[in-house]
Amino acid sequence: MIDVLHFIDGQHVPSRSGRTFTSVNPATGKPLANVAFGEKEDVDRAVQSALRAFREGRWTGLAPAERASRMRRAAQIIADRADEIALLESQDSGKPLPAAKGDVVAAASCLEYFSQLPEHINGSLYATKPGMFAFSRREPYGVVGAIAPWNFPFNLAVWKTAAPLAAGNSIVIKMAEQTPVSTNALAEALIEAGVPAGVVNVVHGDGETTGATLAAHPDVPKITFTGSTEVGRKILHASAETIKSVHLELGGKTPNIVFDDADIDQAVAGSLFTSYFNSGQICTSGSRLLVNERLADEFVDTFRARAEAIVVGDPLAEGTHLGPLVSREQLDRVQGYISLGGNEGATLLTGGTQPAVAGCEGGYFINPTIFTDVKPEMRIAQEEIFGPVLSVMTFSSEEEVVRIANDVSYGLAATVWTRDLGRALRMSERLEAGIIWTNRPHYLQWNVPYEGHKLSGLGEDLGIESMTTFTKLKVNYIDFSGERMGWA
Ligand code: NAI
Ligand code: MG
Repeated sequence: MIDVLHFIDGQHVPSRSGRTFTSVNPATGKPLANVAFGEKEDVDRAVQSALRAFREGRWTGLAPAERASRMRRAAQIIADRADEIALLESQDSGKPLPAAKGDVVAAASCLEYFSQLPEHINGSLYATKPGMFAFSRREPYGVVGAIAPWNFPFNLAVWKTAAPLAAGNSIVIKMAEQTPVSTNALAEALIEAGVPAGVVNVVHGDGETTGATLAAHPDVPKITFTGSTEVGRKILHASAETIKSVHLELGGKTPNIVFDDADIDQAVAGSLFTSYFNSGQICTSGSRLLVNERLADEFVDTFRARAEAIVVGDPLAEGTHLGPLVSREQLDRVQGYISLGGNEGATLLTGGTQPAVAGCEGGYFINPTIFTDVKPEMRIAQEEIFGPVLSVMTFSSEEEVVRIANDVSYGLAATVWTRDLGRALRMSERLEAGIIWTNRPHYLQWNVPYEGHKLSGLGEDLGIESMTTFTKLKVNYIDFSGERMGWA
C-alpha cells in the first residue's frame, strides 16, 4: 500500500484528525493507496498556507522571467519522472500504461507552455482628458481553488494549476477521490524547481466534505472546476455567499457527424478514437455518431468490426487499448445506461458485456458498446454516459443533422467529417459548441483557448486568454495636470 498525504506549505502532512481513505486499483478492485482525507480544518490549513504565500509575495515578488524559469524547470522534472508517475497513474486510474505516459508527457508540455505567460500579462492605457490618463493592470486573485476529476488525473492536476500559477495566484488543488495518487508529484516538482512553499498546496478527500469546503471557503475568491454539470451547479451555488468568480469545464454529448463526402477510412478511424479512447471517459468523447443515411449501413458494419477488435485488458500488458473504467460506481453507471438503452427501444449491436481479463478478475472492465436505432430524444442520446457506449443515429440533410446535433443541453464540442470546405464552415456556424473539429477530433493545444457553451462550461481556458480568466482587472486614473477640482 502506498501512503499519500496532503501537501501543505511545502510539506507532506496527514489530516489533523488522522482520517484516511482508500484509493483502489480499478484493474483489480484491490486497494492501492491509503490517502489522507481532508476535513474542514485541513482545507482551511491549506487555504491559509496559500493565502500567506500570496500576501507575503513569495511568488509574485519574483520577476516574471524568474517565475517562468522555475515553471520550466518543474516541467523538466516532471518529464524526467514520467515513467514513475505514469506507473502510479495507470494503477490508480486503470489507464493503459502508454496512455498514462502520454498524459504525463503532455502535462510537462502544459507547464512548459504556461511558463511563457508570466511575461505576457499586459494592461492597457486609456485616453481620458488632457492632463490625465488611465491604465489598467491584471492582478492575480489570490488563492485559487482547483477541483479536478479522475479521467486525466495528473494531466488535469497540472492543467488546472499551470494557468492560475502563471497568472501569479497561489493554489489549493483537490483531486478526485478515485485518483489521488499521482497528484503530489506535481507539488514536489514545483518545490524542487524553486516555486516557494505554500504557493501550490494539495488536499485530498471527497467532494461532499473536502471539495465543498474549498468551494465555499471565504478566503478563496476564484474556483476552477472540471467535472460533471451537476457538481458544477453546486459549485456555483456555493460561490454565491462570498461572490466568487467561477470557471467551469463541464460535461458534453459531442456529436460526431459523418457526411457522405467524407474520406471514409479517415472517418472510421477517427470515429473509433473519439468514441472509445480512454473508455469514453472524456468530456469531449464523440458519444453520438450521426451518419448520413446513404452510407450508414456500410459505415456501421466497418465501424463495428473495428470496435470488436479493440483490446480491453490489463493496463500494464502490452497491446491493451482500453483498461477498466475508473471505479465500481462508474461501471454501475455505465451498465445502468446500457440496460436503459435496451429499455428505451434502441438495438444493442455489440458490446455491453464484461470481458474476462486474466490476472484482473476484480476489475471494472466493459467492452466497447454500440446502440443503433437510437432516437434523438432517448436518454442514451441526451445524457453524458462517460463510458465506451456509442449511440448511432442517421440523417439525410444538413438541416436535419444540425437539428439533432443541437438538440441536447450540452455544447462542449462537435466533430464533422467532410471534404467540402463550404459544408465544414456552414456546420461551424450552426453547431452549438465551443470547439468544432473538422476531420480531427479530440485535438487540443495549450496555446489555443476554448470555452464550453450551454451547460458545458463557463469561462475561457488555455491560451493567453486564460490569463484573463485567472486575473482581476485593476484600473488607475492619474492626474498630472496640477489642476484643482472646481467643486464647492
Ligand atoms: P464529479 O463531478 O462528482 O467529480 C469531479 C470532482 O468534483 C471530484 O474531485 C469530486 O470530489 C468533486 N466534487 C464532487 N462533489 C462536490 C461538491 N459538492 N463540491 C465540490 N466538489 C465536489 O464527477 P463523478 O461523480 O466522479 O462522475 C460522475 C459523472 O460526472 C461522470 O459519469 C461524467 O458524466 C461526469 N464527469 C465529467 C467530467 C468532465 O471532464 N466533464 C469528469 C468527471 C466526471
Ligand atoms: Mg484509484
